[in-house]
Amino acid sequence: MESQATVSTASEEQTRAIGAGIAHFLGAGDVVLLVGSLGAGKTTFVQGLVAALGGREPVTSPTFMLAHKYRTAPPVTHVDLWRLGHLQEVVDLALEEELDEGGVVVVEWGEAAEPLYGADALVVRFDWGRSDDERTISIEARGACWTSRIAGLREALGPGTAGAGTEGAA
Ligand SMILES: Nc1ncnc2c1ncn2[C@@H]1O[C@H](COP(=O)(O)OP(=O)(O)OP(=O)(O)O)[C@@H](O)[C@H]1O
Ligand SMILES: [Mg+2]
Repeated sequence: MESQATVSTASEEQTRAIGAGIAHFLGAGDVVLLVGSLGAGKTTFVQGLVAALGGREPVTSPTFMLAHKYRTAPPVTHVDLWRLGHLQEVVDLALEEELDEGGVVVVEWGEAAEPLYGADALVVRFDWGRSDDERTISIEARGACWTSRIAGLREALGPGTAGAGTEGAA
């Protein structure tokens, strides 16, 4: 079962607000895979998400460290797989431990982690719109744990959200 929702953003602030809106649906063991090219807005989205969960530190792409854990509730581990050489490097990050201990894992260049987490994740895709500041953000719920939340997510993202899938789109 798959379901989706799509929302447009015209600014960095709106993208942060979308991240914040999704944050409130996150719980222990959740994986969010962010898919989109350089500068598409993945880190901006994570800034809103982490701030909404009480994060006080600035959020940047953890490009050189691969992963950074924020003291949020639930704790968010922010991963950037841009420089990933081999899937084993993701395995070595021991994200399973974070998930088992009640954490949330949010992955930039998340397509690289699909072999591990793609079947049970929220996949958030960032595409460019007509102007430099426009983006289309598509969220796809994968696995029963996420499909049961997609209707609520759509509602939280507001009336401009287009839906497709099984949960009765607007
Ligand atoms: N609607 C928008 N949403 C998000 N960012 C926007 C938007 N419009 C313009 N921007 C700009 O696009 C850039 C997005 O950068 P960001 O670091 O979030 O991208 P990224 O996808 O994480 O890139 P990278 O792959 O390099 O990590 C920022 O400079 C931001 O100001
Ligand atoms: Mg980034």
